[in-house]
Amino acid sequence: MSTTESSRRPLMAANWKMHKTPAESAAFIEQLRPQVNDAACDIVVAPPFVCIPAAVHAAGDSVIAISGQNLFWETSGAYTGEVSGAMLQAAGCRYVIIGHSERRQYFQETDETVNRRLQAALKMALIPIVCVGETLQEREAGQTEAVLSRQFEGGLRGLSAAEMQNVVIAYEPVWAIGTGRTASPEMAQEAHAFLRGCIARQFDTRTAAKVRILYGGSVKPDNVAGLMAQADIDGGLVGGASLQVDSFLALVKAAR
Ligand code: 13P
Repeated sequence: MSTTESSRRPLMAANWKMHKTPAESAAFIEQLRPQVNDAACDIVVAPPFVCIPAAVHAAGDSVIAISGQNLFWETSGAYTGEVSGAMLQAAGCRYVIIGHSERRQYFQETDETVNRRLQAALKMALIPIVCVGETLQEREAGQTEAVLSRQFEGGLRGLSAAEMQNVVIAYEPVWAIGTGRTASPEMAQEAHAFLRGCIARQFDTRTAAKVRILYGGSVKPDNVAGLMAQADIDGGLVGGASLQVDSFLALVKAAR
């Protein structure tokens, strides 16, 4: 399903993964902050957990929102090494990334754990950015849509339509992440339209028209315009090109 709905505000999100110290995070945001006051998109920065306080402080009352890169579904307890949604919220985060392919690949995340984290995030009024995407092997085997449906149905299970409207989806084909091999705008659009159809089927068309679907996977200043021109691409979730202020700023400016 494609839609011409234009009320979705674009969103450009930086996923710093395991990069930057607290001081480096603060310096980045202090440099970015005065340059994005009139941005035409929402701006999210997801630093490592230990950098969140410094990032929140540096962002202050600016338009830059801070995100966690993950959360655990329990509020507190004997879970060594985990961080809860309540903690992220108390630290000043407004968003949280859930189910990134690196979490699925290296830390055994499943659609079921994605769903538990998602429910916990919504309970804490954090805006979840839920990642889905196929591997190269799955794409070449013609399984892209089957994989996306499965991840969507399993990960987004049990939500009301009102809750779904607050969720952001990120389509991140695994083969395009950190490889410099971005999906063509047409290929990405096809997957985004398919995902919007999944939302319409599981919820309704009004909800589907409202949910923002970001593209992630080697988004760079020189390919962002073609991606943003697609009807169902509402922004980006960016790794490598989000680590320098200049390139992230170029992406923010392209998101309109
Ligand atoms: P790259 O932009 O480095 O390909 O990473 C994409 C990504 O995984 C964002 O979450």
